Amino acid sequence: MAFGWIDEQAGARRRAGLVRTLRPRPADSPLLDLASNDYLGLAHHPEVTEGAARAARTWGGGSTGSRLVTGTTELHTELERELAAFCGFEAALVFSSGYAANLAAVTALGPHGSLIVSDAGNHASLIDGCRLARGGTQVVGHADPESVRKALATHEGTAIVVSDTVFSVDGDQAPLAALAEACREHGAGLVVDDAHGLGVLGDGGRGAPYAAGLAGAGDVVATATLSKSLGSQGGVVLGPARVIDHLVNAARTFIFDTGLAPAAAGAALAALRLLVREPRRAARAREVAAELHARLTTAGLEAVRPDAAVVSVRAPSPEQAVRWAADCRTAGLAVGCFRPPSVPDGISRLRLTARADLSGTEIERAVRVIGETRP
Ligand SMILES: Cc1ncc(COP(=O)(O)O)c(C=O)c1O
Repeated sequence: MAFGWIDEQAGARRRAGLVRTLRPRPADSPLLDLASNDYLGLAHHPEVTEGAARAARTWGGGSTGSRLVTGTTELHTELERELAAFCGFEAALVFSSGYAANLAAVTALGPHGSLIVSDAGNHASLIDGCRLARGGTQVVGHADPESVRKALATHEGTAIVVSDTVFSVDGDQAPLAALAEACREHGAGLVVDDAHGLGVLGDGGRGAPYAAGLAGAGDVVATATLSKSLGSQGGVVLGPARVIDHLVNAARTFIFDTGLAPAAAGAALAALRLLVREPRRAARAREVAAELHARLTTAGLEAVRPDAAVVSVRAPSPEQAVRWAADCRTAGLAVGCFRPPSVPDGISRLRLTARADLSGTEIERAVRVIGETRP
């Protein structure tokens, strides 16, 4: 029977406690939200929603075409200029998602005959970029510059090193300075995904590459999503102008994809301008993360010390992680739940987002609920 194998896979997933289901969120959810990626609490900020509405009224509901045909508006170029200036890079290119931006960066910068060195903890979109690229990939141990050095030494010619700046599962940071040093020893380019760093790390939220003194370097490219701290949708690649020009000409997810929706561009631009005006938001997200971690640890829970705004709490098994998250929800708290295959190390976790707009009382309540519902 056509698709018969799907039922076998569904059965295996059920037996392993790994079934995923969709849960539509009402507009007026009463839950305390520690599950979203809205790190700075900007998704509903009036200036951000107005930025989206104004852009839709001016430019339409969609961008109407590929960026190379009709999908580049003046709004797109304004957003690119301001993102590049804020993050400290020469140029920027926006995409319809962070996923598309990562596919673009890795495939266009990892051509046939090149080596791509990829951290074992990288996000799925970087992994898929490696799979699609014509170059060969070597996966190296997590946050391990020595392994990166060894991998680069095996190859003559073009190479890039690809890493998240802040890893989405445990919220730990990559050793960016050491990775850049390893790259420079071998003349390799460094491509980092700052999805969880932009808006949280660096002076006023300028991101992890800025914080590490790597923004604007000729051998460093950063990607990011507009869907987390900036409360919108879309992705961006930041780097030297010649790299950005190369992506315009060679990146398939740029060329063959409809440009970012004007509403998303307008919302991201409004959020960026807010962040420039109110740089304290970034530091506040880090403070909330530190407070969450401290309180969870005091409550006897096994939480990973956060480097940015992701706080990860260990769960004993996938089934218990799912039940724990469900019990939190019943008690009025939304938390994320990571389990295999999203986590290659097989460890299931609750994943908490330290939003800058959480109050002390909300942090206290969240930790109480997580403690009271622990398996
Ligand atoms: C590290 C990382 N990179 C890339 C993405 C993909 O970005 P987007 O959701 O904009 O496609 C995500 C998650 O959304 C992420 O966590």
